[in-house]
Amino acid sequence: MQPSPADDADAPAPRIEPAGRGTVVVGHDGPGAADHALRRAGELARRLDDVLVVVRAYSLAGDAPWASSPPRQDPSASEVGAVVTDELRRDVARVLGHHDGAVLLRVEHATAVRALTAVSDGADMLMLGSHGAQAGPRHDDHPGSVSRRCLRDATCPVLLVGPGTDPAPRGPVLPRRRTPDEPSPWTPSRHHLEVLIGAGTLAPSMHNTQPWTFWTAGADLCVGLDGARLLPAEDPGSRAAVLSVGAVVTNLRCQGAAGDLGTDVTWLPPSRNGRTALAAVHLDPGADVDHELATLALSIPLRRTRRRPMSGRPLTASAERDLALAASSEGARLLPVPRGTTREALLELVDEAALLDRVDDPRHLERDSWTGGVRTADGIPERSFGQQDRGRAVIRDFAPGVPSAVRGWAAFEPDAPLYLLGTVRDDEIGWLRAGAALEHLWLVATSRGLAMSFLNQVLERDDLRRRTRALVDDAVWPHMVVRLGYGDPPVATPRRPWQSFLT
Ligand SMILES: Cc1cc2nc3c(=O)[nH]c(=O)nc-3n(C[C@H](O)[C@H](O)[C@H](O)COP(=O)(O)O)c2cc1C
Repeated sequence: MQPSPADDADAPAPRIEPAGRGTVVVGHDGPGAADHALRRAGELARRLDDVLVVVRAYSLAGDAPWASSPPRQDPSASEVGAVVTDELRRDVARVLGHHDGAVLLRVEHATAVRALTAVSDGADMLMLGSHGAQAGPRHDDHPGSVSRRCLRDATCPVLLVGPGTDPAPRGPVLPRRRTPDEPSPWTPSRHHLEVLIGAGTLAPSMHNTQPWTFWTAGADLCVGLDGARLLPAEDPGSRAAVLSVGAVVTNLRCQGAAGDLGTDVTWLPPSRNGRTALAAVHLDPGADVDHELATLALSIPLRRTRRRPMSGRPLTASAERDLALAASSEGARLLPVPRGTTREALLELVDEAALLDRVDDPRHLERDSWTGGVRTADGIPERSFGQQDRGRAVIRDFAPGVPSAVRGWAAFEPDAPLYLLGTVRDDEIGWLRAGAALEHLWLVATSRGLAMSFLNQVLERDDLRRRTRALVDDAVWPHMVVRLGYGDPPVATPRRPWQSFLT
């Protein structure tokens, strides 16, 4: 058997079509380690409503382990491809059982690395088993090198999945999708509600308005908006308020996992008993819990907005990768703002927003009613404004130039790394996912000693938001302009008592 053209560096390689946005791509090279990655990818695709794309690569080299019966001599690439496709179809059915979302099989005559990086170009996530080649015959790449090279070359976030992260090692594992009215004998106790709502309401919200209401429906904890706590001048479409519901849901999932409660989230569930929620979190004491989320629960009380100077130490590559992964795992993107002209152009738009704000009385009045002074239940107290900046502002200053006995002055880091957190969809689902992603990556950041603040004023006017979007990636709607750096959590902002959210 001759080496395949795919293995011959001189032969022109045929183009491999990327699966594109709205997909989770997973490599699968046959029974074994890759099964875990396939299960996890199936779960993620279902949560994101993404298409699951399963990739297997093959070559024409003789000892390929993909064929159940030895291929006859010199089979053509398409004959081999048909055999491999058949094998892959069987493997996917064996591992996923009934998967209630779209699944595409991609069998590529190429090396595993080339197939995986090309198909996953622009995807929401590429998932691989954490050891060995995960998409093709092991002889076409050195063991382990596929994941390493994909981590280096893929243009989308890459997640390596080990067997230890798979809660159910055999058989179909995807939970049957719950119908909204399915009766459940278990309901959360008052203690559950106190712990969950207490953690949920530590989530961030614009101006700390805490615009949430909670109620139960059987084993579901529902989260909706409190119409009396919206910001019609600064958040006219309630995008920021909806986003903060997504953040609450991440806290509920983490705190649930920490308390041995499995959770299953339905965004925008149908109305029940005349009430409309933005999210229903189904609580299940019998379900497997996600241990990574349980660990993140430790960071919930420490996550705070830091409007103070950061240390100036650059983010490590692994921190940056983990934050991007946390965002992608919720269906959002964390996009670095390139230094130089792009960053400069963004800061000019921020300045423009500040200028427009100066003459906008309705926005001023609204902001003043939620920020400044001493506050014990909601809003942003003056002590959380951070210091006034001696140079160019990299924080949102809620009282620029106003003398203060509380704040003091400081020089902020001049080249703070900035990012846009965004989603492809700009509707309620997109906003909820952005909020879930914001809190997920913020908890990861907190656990690594990182802190964040925001320059969102530039996203609160449609024209400036469109110009911000055009600066970095036209296909991604920005929801948060994030400043990141190493720094301790500052003093906490207040929250209302948990019972006041229960309606
Ligand atoms: C949608 C949204 C927009 C926000 N915009 C800004 C902003 O532009 N500037 C800022 O300093 N903080 C911003 N924040 C942070 C909130 O002010 C902060 O979460 C809230 O005051 C609670 O404080 P904590 O984060 O310390 O718990 C925003 C938060 C959310 C959820």
